[in-house]
Amino acid sequence: MQKYKYINLFSGIGGWELGLQDLPMENVLSCEIDKYARQTFLANFPDLPCVRNNNYPTDIRELNPSDIPEFDILVGSPPCQSFSMAGLRKGLKDDKDDKGNMFFYVLNIIKQCMPKAFILENVKGLLTAEGGRSFRIIHDLFRNAGYSFHYKVIKGCDCGIPQIRQRVFMVGFLGENQETSTFRFPDPVPLKFTMHDVFNCKTCNRDVGYTILTAHNHKRYKEPYNWMSYLVDGIEHEITLSETKKVMGLPDTFVFPEDLSSSRIRKQLGNGIIPDCVRLVSEQVLLHLQNM
Ligand SMILES: C[S@@+](CC[C@H](N)C(=O)[O-])C[C@H]1O[C@@H](n2cnc3c(N)ncnc32)[C@H](O)[C@@H]1O
Repeated sequence: MQKYKYINLFSGIGGWELGLQDLPMENVLSCEIDKYARQTFLANFPDLPCVRNNNYPTDIRELNPSDIPEFDILVGSPPCQSFSMAGLRKGLKDDKDDKGNMFFYVLNIIKQCMPKAFILENVKGLLTAEGGRSFRIIHDLFRNAGYSFHYKVIKGCDCGIPQIRQRVFMVGFLGENQETSTFRFPDPVPLKFTMHDVFNCKTCNRDVGYTILTAHNHKRYKEPYNWMSYLVDGIEHEITLSETKKVMGLPDTFVFPEDLSSSRIRKQLGNGIIPDCVRLVSEQVLLHLQNM
């Protein structure tokens, strides 16, 4: 199969890189502004071409599209606080922290570099922020840039990983006729393991875990808004960081820097993308590109 070059604009700790590593995809640039996320990324991907070739910039806002190495596919998970159900949901109107506007920087790179395809991921709340207005704007902007625009809400547990985590995946192909497109998102696959395996227990009140959030939340297991407590072998148990790592579908070999605080690790995990979701969606994108 042909190899495709990709860039990842908000690489965090490298969930996309993990999901794409066994596909015919070659990373030519990753970009991440957060110092601590960069440390984790570097601890896990010291030999990735973007690191070796010094194509690991910090701020997308300062990235000149003409400096980006040639690539075929743009991937990324723009910061989602502006759109998350838990956030203010101001969407593209959010001018307080500029985060909603990251889509415009992505769009600018797409317009200048015209990759064959893009794959973006965001919180489900993006679909309904501002009564759906933000999403309609994003949809129209990408269509007007010459791309088809497909989207679907996919759960972690649709991809074999026992976490509810609902994320909207958006995929577009350059010059594709939207109406006649045969692109399909992946069908759900069976769970690879359940919360019983995560906790190594006989009984657990859930097979599929709650969505991992970026901050600690001290609720009891029957309280509303509990995202961390489970009933494990009849005893209340708060999910640990190493169990959280499993529920994000990260391999045992994935490491965090030794001096990284648990709150920073939690934030990085909660911000992350499940690599199995990346792999399944990207496989469909590659299949489609081969048949176009
Ligand atoms: C939703 S997270 C993506 C996490 C990633 N998918 C992973 O697996 O870890 C968004 C990331 O965008 C980064 N970010 C925010 N503003 C940025 C900017 N201006 N340039 C580059 N990265 C930025 C944040 O630090 C955060 O790590």
